[in-house]
Amino acid sequence: MISRRTFLGTSLVALFGEGGYSAFIEPQQLRHERIVVPIAGLPSGLEGLRIVALTDFHLQPFTQLAFLKKAVNAANALQPDVVVLLGDFVDATLSAIEDLAPLLGTLRPQVDVLAVLGNHDYRKGAGYVAASLQREGITVLRNRGLLLPIGGTEVHFAGTDSLSGQFDLSEALAGSRAGVPSVLLAHEPDVADVVAQDGRVALQLSGHSHGGQVRLPGMEWASLPLGARKYPFGSYQVGKMFLHTSRGLGTTGLPIRFGSPPELTEVLLTSV
Ligand SMILES: [Fe+2]
Repeated sequence: MISRRTFLGTSLVALFGEGGYSAFIEPQQLRHERIVVPIAGLPSGLEGLRIVALTDFHLQPFTQLAFLKKAVNAANALQPDVVVLLGDFVDATLSAIEDLAPLLGTLRPQVDVLAVLGNHDYRKGAGYVAASLQREGITVLRNRGLLLPIGGTEVHFAGTDSLSGQFDLSEALAGSRAGVPSVLLAHEPDVADVVAQDGRVALQLSGHSHGGQVRLPGMEWASLPLGARKYPFGSYQVGKMFLHTSRGLGTTGLPIRFGSPPELTEVLLTSV
């Protein structure tokens, strides 16, 4: 099977003649995806709870801070209750987190900013990425959860390690409570089958895929990484659970996107 890297390299050659659309235009075209998630038995105090998800930053060499700043400003403009960051903060260099973490520290939701780490963060230095985020007041969930008091009631947010770390769903959900909806942050979307089977999570939010990053007609599968081939982008019902996979913000391997523009996700919870 053709590797993701080989595919992206071949794609660059194939797309070179397109006047730079895939290299200069689409990677900058931030799309706002608004999804309404129905949750059975949602407490009335959580009706309309607004979560903004940002993921796959990949700061440097291809994704620049100025573009990520645009995404952070757009997130703040939505006045969310909670912002969740779904991993892959860094790409080629671990030190990029020293520029990215202070920018993410300017996110201003009503309640909290929560984060999980991605496979690229594990490759470069998970401990350093997590510490840099925490220094900016961001709560990093590595196989743990927390109950957030919102609207006179509570909502449970949990986060797992990436599959490149020590993914442990039981540990992440240990603090979940019957009657309190659980939202799971997991970098790789394809863990959804295991999560749905567990039965405690109402909504899983993921990234990792970049939506394929380069989606050539008839070859959409070729640029999808392991862990995002079953649920590559958009919203899914998996058993009783709702899953949304974001296309993310940055690029890896090459500075191009085609047929998969960067995404800022706004999630609104509603009762069924
Ligand atoms: Fe990524």
